[in-house]
Amino acid sequence: MNYTKLGLVNTNEMLQRALHDGYAIGAFNIYNMETMRAIITAARETHSPVILAVSESALDYMGANMLISMIAAAEIKPYEQIALHLDHGHSYESCTRAIDMGFSSVMIDASNLPFDENIALSARVAKYAHRHNVSVEAELGALRGFEDENTKSKTGQFTKPDNVVEFVSKTGIDSLAIAIGTSHGAYKRKSTTEKLRFDILAEIAEKLPDFPLVLHGASNIPSDLVHEINANGGKITGARGIPADQLRRTVSMNICKINVDSDSRLAFTAGVRSALKSDPENFNPREYIRVGMGMMYENTITEINEIMNSANRI
Ligand code: G3H
Ligand code: 13P
Ligand code: ZN
Repeated sequence: MNYTKLGLVNTNEMLQRALHDGYAIGAFNIYNMETMRAIITAARETHSPVILAVSESALDYMGANMLISMIAAAEIKPYEQIALHLDHGHSYESCTRAIDMGFSSVMIDASNLPFDENIALSARVAKYAHRHNVSVEAELGALRGFEDENTKSKTGQFTKPDNVVEFVSKTGIDSLAIAIGTSHGAYKRKSTTEKLRFDILAEIAEKLPDFPLVLHGASNIPSDLVHEINANGGKITGARGIPADQLRRTVSMNICKINVDSDSRLAFTAGVRSALKSDPENFNPREYIRVGMGMMYENTITEINEIMNSANRI
């Protein structure tokens, strides 16, 4: 199915507008009806463009038919500027399958491969995607942090500015994810004084003017959500994210897509935990899940307003 039949829009057109006007599009991960509704409702309320990001494991969890049926049921209109994006596609087949299914953009994450192989695979995906007017994101460098299912990276490696022009021109991709000190998950920082590598970002932005850059592992990890989880029976210790002022600074330096998953997970979990704690006799999932969905919706609105600066852009 072509994504336009689902009311979705070409991701690159959104990114180009964001880049030009100095804001970012939030790419928020979804994995069920509730997370999809939280994000779409927040985007509609704030009149903000938004990217619905679906990882391979989330797609596996939902099933392709369920995802596409849910998107169709959301009755998205093109003027709402909502994109559906494959997050961290790890193979050519994974990306082409998503394109055939109705995604409006895909990420081919071959950042763990040697440079030339990353170029070859990303270029192959871009060729297929562009035949379907679908946009492609690829990654150079590796996010540091704990080894996770997505990055397969234990140590991380900052993006080398000297490689970016060759990579972009040889692959024909539409946006580039870079590693400047972010990482996936809730434990991104050892101390509050750590800073992103703005020097690397500045060099990349200078070498690739007018080219959309993407920040993964960019959750802010709001401390109030962590406290709420811990106050209601959770145990999340030492969680620390990227401060909002640093995220906003990246947006002024050509970052125009910011990926957020962990913040949504925290918000949802905080809502569910507090609902269950405050009413221990309740065993109706609809009631406590509704509270989780509501907290995720509220947090998304906050991030659209305070980090992305994307409200009222449509
Ligand atoms: O970076 C990717 C997201 O956090 C997705 O994670 O594979 O557990 O859905 P996941
Ligand atoms: P966080 O874990 O920081 O939310 O990163 C999400 C992400 O990069 C999804 O691709
Ligand atoms: Zn990511």
